Amino acid sequence: MANLLLIVSGSVAAYKALELVRLARRAGHAVTPILTAGGARFVTKEALAGISGARVHDDLWAAEAEIGHIRLARAPDLVVVAPASADLLAKMAAGLADDLASTVLLATRAPVLVAPAMNPAMWAHPATVANMKALASRGVHLVGPEEGAMAEPESGPGRLAEPPAILAAIEALLHHGPLAGRHVVVTSGPTHENIDPVRYIANRSSGRQGHAIAAALAALGARVTLVSGPVAVPDPAGVTVVRIESARQMLAAVEAALPADAAVFAAAVADFRPTDVGSQKIKKVPGAPPPEIALTLNPDILATIAQRQVQRPALVVGFAAETESVVPHAQDKRLRKGCDWIVANDVSGDVMGGAENAVHLVTEAGVEDWPRLPKAEVARRLATRIAESLA
Ligand code: CTP
Repeated sequence: MANLLLIVSGSVAAYKALELVRLARRAGHAVTPILTAGGARFVTKEALAGISGARVHDDLWAAEAEIGHIRLARAPDLVVVAPASADLLAKMAAGLADDLASTVLLATRAPVLVAPAMNPAMWAHPATVANMKALASRGVHLVGPEEGAMAEPESGPGRLAEPPAILAAIEALLHHGPLAGRHVVVTSGPTHENIDPVRYIANRSSGRQGHAIAAALAALGARVTLVSGPVAVPDPAGVTVVRIESARQMLAAVEAALPADAAVFAAAVADFRPTDVGSQKIKKVPGAPPPEIALTLNPDILATIAQRQVQRPALVVGFAAETESVVPHAQDKRLRKGCDWIVANDVSGDVMGGAENAVHLVTEAGVEDWPRLPKAEVARRLATRIAESLA
């Protein structure tokens, strides 16, 4: 379906590039590999050629004679660097062009996706941080790195994203899949409601579930606008992220993103905000009782969008966090707010901020109980259901 140029640079994770090529070809894409000198220390040219069914380019001057680096750089729909070593990322940031991979990366006009893999200390180094910032500002897309077991006994982010996650990011950037041509708005994370210039009311939402839903929708080809409160999780690849702080800003951003075919409200929006926000920090007054903070009801973003007369998305999905009578409360919430589906989760355990979620999908047709699943899997299932519903 698409022409991918895959640059494999030097990392012990380079063997995973072979799996990525296999998955990408199975998804219908043509893959042209470029192997750097470092990459060739970890995977062979023959293995890459065999699995890609394509000629592997590894030398600037040989490629120049055969096809030319400009043609190589211009032909693909997407350039994928996986694994992307710290060295190659630094070259990209500096605009160096001293081998085939860096020359093609400097010459290409195609979107570029990088999947870094390196030691956690190298990833955290200010030089790499500055390089990644420069690349992000130029529109280079990022997938991973992940935290987890590495070749070295060190922990922290640095591990190459798994090949299925890299492929999902590729599909998101190509806008291929059952949701191609569709626009979906997703809210995620907490909101912050100012008390004074230095204090705010917040909640424990990590944004993991909402961000995973945005990523899963994009992986099915949707154009996704993710309206997010302050979170520490990275932006999903191929998604437009609008950052806000308060509930009122979130509502304005969602309305500005319309029209949309579907909207998923996964944010943990603060129900109340302080009524008066002073321009000065509230001071302790010796001897006086502590101040009382008066609260005002925030707009209900889900209900506002679900009850719109114009530009109401065809499918409006809300979440419900419940600690008891999960399904009855969710059914009631669905009717009260006027949305089509409610994803009800039992938050009596460690769901908020955790990695897994046990949900019930409440629709007009009834209730489905989903097993306890990683949040990314909940997101994939929900995205698939949304694609089926919009089809
Ligand atoms: N929501 C919203 N705007 C608000 C409050 C909530 O969009 N001001 C959305 C959330 O994103 C979520 C759903 O509404 O999709 C949750 O509704 P809410 O009534 O807040 O339910 P709970 O969080 O489950 O809380 P409660 O049981 O207290 O109603």
